[in-house]
Amino acid sequence: MGPKLWETPMNDTFLKACRSEKTDYTPIWIMRQAGRYLPEYQKVRGNVTFLELCKTPELCVEVTLQPIDILGVDAAILFSDILIPLEAMGTPLEFHEGRGPVFPEPIKNQADLDKLIIPDPDEHLGFVMETIRLLRKELNVPLIGFSGAPFTCATYLIEGGSSKVFWETKKMMFTAPDLFHNMMRKITDCTILYLKAQAKAGAQALQIFDSWAGVLAPCDFKIFALPYVQEIIRELQDTGVPIIYFANNGATFLEMSESSGADVLGLDWRINIGDAAKRVGKVALQGNLDPFSLLLPKDQLKTRIGNIIEDARNTHGHIFNLGHGIHQFTPPEQAIAAVEYVHELSGK
Ligand code: CP3
Repeated sequence: MGPKLWETPMNDTFLKACRSEKTDYTPIWIMRQAGRYLPEYQKVRGNVTFLELCKTPELCVEVTLQPIDILGVDAAILFSDILIPLEAMGTPLEFHEGRGPVFPEPIKNQADLDKLIIPDPDEHLGFVMETIRLLRKELNVPLIGFSGAPFTCATYLIEGGSSKVFWETKKMMFTAPDLFHNMMRKITDCTILYLKAQAKAGAQALQIFDSWAGVLAPCDFKIFALPYVQEIIRELQDTGVPIIYFANNGATFLEMSESSGADVLGLDWRINIGDAAKRVGKVALQGNLDPFSLLLPKDQLKTRIGNIIEDARNTHGHIFNLGHGIHQFTPPEQAIAAVEYVHELSGK
């Protein structure tokens, strides 16, 4: 267990960077920092299924804290999954070893969609709120809550799981746009309530994961995805909690992502962070080391990290992160080294 709140002063470097305030050094956290690359996670996961883990607050707290202690990152991310609230909408969810998530009853028509409910977060997702409350008693770094963005969530409900080509999703978008928008409406309403509840329970920042936004043409992103993200962020304004919007593979529509209203834009590794900074106004940037470059020899890894910190010097706040989640076969000592280098090279 980490140090108690009253024993150690709060490390608020991450939150300052989110608000584009000056920081003493560059804060870092890592997407998917709690997960399978850590033997300590595997140990907990060895006794329960993934969904059982997600629904047991004491275990979620344990695995959320692991990377804080092991890596020394500057923020914690709630242990859960973007698909958990979709299950609470009433659609069965399964996780299969090696195949990932499966929704055996994908949404095909309006009747399927009508069966989904808008869950009350405290009633149907109380275990997530409980995890947040418990974590706030343990943590000396800020806690990030999260959800999927409506488009990314919709792809799982429509495809029935992960996809490479998104045939069903795009078929619905282009041949049944009203149905697609109705579905986005429902997921958006669910997400607003869910994220508001996380903020109320104690989440100090909220990240919206749009993992599959990059499969859309910019003109479709603008019509089918962006308005819903804008609405969520607008609705969260009075919580006062900074919002991070991560559109994976979204460098080509960075300006549209900025119009989401997020305080922080997450960048994947396909763009130079300095070039990204030139294209946006006063918004903090998060990223953007290629997760696989953690396999580089340590001296080369350090050089790359130094280059990103240097390229990010003109950002209005920089939070170091990978450009996507850490891969499950990454040696933990490489992640530990990366955190150390970010701190050392940015003046901690
Ligand atoms: O440390 C953290 O980041 C917090 C926990 C977290 C998980 N998933 C745990 C998890 C977070 C923030 C997520 C987000 C998530 N989940 C996303 C968006 C981020 C991204 O990577 O693009 C997506 C698309 C999902 C959906 C999901 N969950 C998939 C496709 C899979 C299976 C494939 C895979 O990468 O493993 C999961 C399972 C999952 N979510 C695991 C973990 C630790 C592995 C489950 C296991 O222990 O077997």
